[in-house]
Amino acid sequence: MSLPDDLAVALSRAAARLGSIGREVLWYPEVSSTSDVASSRAEGGAGEGLLVIADMQTAGRGRLGRTWASPPGAGIYASIVFRPNSRVARLLTLAAGVAVAEGITQATGLEPELKWPNDVHCEGRKLAGILAERGADHVVLGFGVNVLQAMYPADVRARATSIELELGREVDRALVLAECLAALAARYRDLNDGREGAVMAAWRSRAASMLGRRVEWDMAGASQRGMAERVDEDGALLVRTENGLVRVISGEVRWMP
Ligand code: BTN
Repeated sequence: MSLPDDLAVALSRAAARLGSIGREVLWYPEVSSTSDVASSRAEGGAGEGLLVIADMQTAGRGRLGRTWASPPGAGIYASIVFRPNSRVARLLTLAAGVAVAEGITQATGLEPELKWPNDVHCEGRKLAGILAERGADHVVLGFGVNVLQAMYPADVRARATSIELELGREVDRALVLAECLAALAARYRDLNDGREGAVMAAWRSRAASMLGRRVEWDMAGASQRGMAERVDEDGALLVRTENGLVRVISGEVRWMP
């Protein structure tokens, strides 16, 4: 299926900044999940940079087995195949959060914040999410950005926000996608060129209001509590508890008010 004109134009305008991203592009009016397509292509040998985009997903998924509402024309649904070395793979998921937030800023002027590990928020509500899935020799990075509030089911509207709701005006979805991809290419280059420090500094500055806050999470069937202190060089969240500093590497962290 050929790319809609607005996407083709936005991607070609950004081409010089996309690195390997979008060397091959697959666009679908409807797909189960762009990450399903990207993963099966990656397993079949697809090269780094394969970009899969859809106008809607029938089985969009989020972190921790959740579904990701993906109504037609309402959001950005995109997945990219990366073939990073293990050093780069370690921080790719944090870098992706930074990049999606930066792309949104570049395209719209909004300044989203990050919640560890890589939820993108605006005014305390979720605006975009990132799902990194590792295969034997690749990582598929999928991201979804809510663009048009009215199109989402009521339960999603109640807890999430969208670019148009935050801005109070229409936005060019293709431009937002292109800027997120350009930022992703730049942050991926940073990791490959050894500039992890720059990526972490950008992450910290977008997550400043989250650090110092009380968090709760489940470990081995029990609820744990502490104060989010910082993120270490591997991207783990370090939480100060009454038993000392605990490293949280995955799973859900609940941020207390
Ligand atoms: C999360 O915050 O839970 C992650 C959401 C990731 C959603 C995107 S949309 C494109 C790609 N395809 C999917 O099925 N999921 C990701």
